[in-house]
Amino acid sequence: MNGAERFLAACAGRPVDRTPVWMMRQAGRYLPEYRAARERVDFLTLCKTPDLAVEVSLQPIRRFGMDACIMFSDILMLVEAMGAPVAFTDRGPALERPIRTLEAIKALKLPDPHTRMSFALETLGRLRAELRGDAALVGFCGAPFTLAAYMVEGSGSKSFATLKSMLYGSPATLHTLLASLADAVAVYAAAQVAAGAQAVQIFDTWAGELAPDAYAQFALPYQKMVVDEVRATGVPAILYVNGCAGVLDLMAQTNANVLSIDWRTTLGAARARAGSSVALQGNVDPSVLLTTPQAVTTAAREALTQGAGGPHILNLGHGILPDTPLACARAFVEAPKTANAAEARP
Ligand code: CP3
Repeated sequence: MNGAERFLAACAGRPVDRTPVWMMRQAGRYLPEYRAARERVDFLTLCKTPDLAVEVSLQPIRRFGMDACIMFSDILMLVEAMGAPVAFTDRGPALERPIRTLEAIKALKLPDPHTRMSFALETLGRLRAELRGDAALVGFCGAPFTLAAYMVEGSGSKSFATLKSMLYGSPATLHTLLASLADAVAVYAAAQVAAGAQAVQIFDTWAGELAPDAYAQFALPYQKMVVDEVRATGVPAILYVNGCAGVLDLMAQTNANVLSIDWRTTLGAARARAGSSVALQGNVDPSVLLTTPQAVTTAAREALTQGAGGPHILNLGHGILPDTPLACARAFVEAPKTANAAEARP
């Protein structure tokens, strides 16, 4: 099997020759060649210049041979296209004008991806041709709730106090924002598939901050709209929530083909709750990769064993950290290639 076949088979729950592997944020600052590219241009230029975005997306594949290649971009590029400019600062992303009123929400645009996100679509088309099946091409988008979190807070947050006071105090206002985001995300996700994406990962990173009731009202319905749109195009939808242990059963209700799990729950426990047919992705703690290759191999093998009760894609529980040694990243990607085949088969 080539990487694309292996990855797509695992997404669909079909047999694989070994467990496929990739890493969230695999194109990033732990790679010297990424840091070299970033010395020449800023992050937004990197995202918006297809030549550079293609190059950076391929860097980890060339070095380590993952089975999936995620397009280099950011979930917040769509927010900018909707008319809310984002700056990427040393302290993370920041909106010039947070979106906190109904007037501000009504002023948001439903962007045509072919004009406003053309750089991403072009990057995908070129990547698909360059990869030639060695790795599956993964497109992605932020889920409405996580995008709304950045839009309302204006930046990342520890408590999400502004967002949550809107959620509990003016729920109708937040639903209006989430509905317009769901439209924009669904159109963008479908355009990514038309441009060459073979799977779409939906990042609802911050939905794990919600109480289960709030998740059911403010995250789940909008995740489902995006999952439905992706699945209607014929490619698998992967849903990621950081800190998903409390909402795993609700996540499964989206009908996503793959649930991407963080390290706070074992894959075995996640499997027992999500059922044996859905594929699981994850779930090694990215901090393990700050230690030694031996420790990484042990942790990856444990995830392979835990994941073996059904279809599994080996990944981290969140993005790889910038201080990760290259030898540890390599040990992670090598683990399923050297593992006992019996362990790795779903
Ligand atoms: O996974 C990949 O390799 C593909 C590219 C990708 C990036 N961001 C590149 C990036 C993807 C899929 C994302 C998704 C993303 N962006 C999420 C969801 C997943 C997650 O990690 O939780 C979120 C919440 C964002 C928003 C965002 N963008 C934050 C919070 C930050 C700052 C934190 C950080 O790591 O610097 C970014 C910037 C960002 N996005 C960088 C990269 C490589 C760092 C930019 C730089 O080079 O300085």
